[in-house]
Amino acid sequence: METTAFSKTQLTKPVLGIETSCDETGVALLRWHPEAPGEGLLSHALYSQIKLHAEYGGVVPELASRDHVRKLLPLVREALAQAGLTPADLGGVAYTAGPGLVGALLVGASAARAMAWALGVPAIGVHHMEGHLLAPLLEEDPPEPPFVALLVSGGHSMLVEVKGIGEYRILGDTLDDAAGEAFDKTAKLMGLPYPGGPALARLAEQGRPGVFRFSRPMTDRPGLDFSFSGLKTQVLLAWQQSDQGEQTRADIARAFEEAIVDTMIIKCRRALQAAGAKRLVIAGGVGANKRLRAELAAAGEKDGFKAYFPRLAFCTDNGAMIALAGAIRLAHGQHQDESVQVFPRWDLESLPPAM
Ligand code: KG4
Ligand code: ZN
Repeated sequence: METTAFSKTQLTKPVLGIETSCDETGVALLRWHPEAPGEGLLSHALYSQIKLHAEYGGVVPELASRDHVRKLLPLVREALAQAGLTPADLGGVAYTAGPGLVGALLVGASAARAMAWALGVPAIGVHHMEGHLLAPLLEEDPPEPPFVALLVSGGHSMLVEVKGIGEYRILGDTLDDAAGEAFDKTAKLMGLPYPGGPALARLAEQGRPGVFRFSRPMTDRPGLDFSFSGLKTQVLLAWQQSDQGEQTRADIARAFEEAIVDTMIIKCRRALQAAGAKRLVIAGGVGANKRLRAELAAAGEKDGFKAYFPRLAFCTDNGAMIALAGAIRLAHGQHQDESVQVFPRWDLESLPPAM
């Protein structure tokens, strides 16, 4: 990462954000607005590859890359048109540089670097999880650091202490399956189509409380790490030993969701206490889960902390969170050199502070 001062006019111009780390192509335009970042969002567009991967039961990396190649530039055109802008209006380009699928990341990084080079503007590689954890800043009443962030997506379950932008300390991580992965795998073993997480959550709404009960993994000992793979095995056994009827599937889904949500609430309370924080940010795809949102908000009222969530569309992967994280770093003079670099694995704690 390099640091250079850019002209004021460049920084007040909109930043193009590009997300291609997995199975969603996301694009957004955002003008950096320090007091109310959400007001700077000019447009966003998303293309989900769900249908493409559904027949394989999961994301096929090579197909994901090829589809990003097809969809990215038309989406950029769409986002520009929505905002009434042309490429010449851009002040910078932000792209997800990792973590994620290497081929998919390279599509976004190459396009972003090429556009930035042609337009003579800076480009910045954004950490996907930093994008997720800053997404609540796009809403009204944005949270101010310090806060604790619960990052729960298809690839991560993390509790992060956020002292400032770029000042992250991981308090807890997953030892095996991430929360979203646990949702997806559990859904699959009960016969639900990919991606199972949202489908399992919908099914859970029809489930009756108390018919099944699963353990709250690793809550009986101190610590903030997560482990969800044992829960998946408990569900498998319950499902195999059941009548496998529709109501039973919903009852199991409900008990599974309750176990995951309870576990996350217990760990969030501990993390807030450990960090001495009064603000909790929830982000990542599983942050779209209704039970999790309702129960964390209720826990906050009881314990005296405030829970901040992005809107549903900004919980799952999107371009707006990348445009935001990139705009903040560009505004602090950070940018990448002209080589195209991506980081399929990338430690969140290694990021430089934005100050
Ligand atoms: O953040 P995201 O879009 O992609 C990654 O960065 O991984 O998260 C996707 C994950 C998937 O595992 C999906 O099943 C899960 O988020 N997810 C949900 C819900 N909506 C998406 N899990 C539980 N309840 C939901 N409503
Ligand atoms: Zn994500």
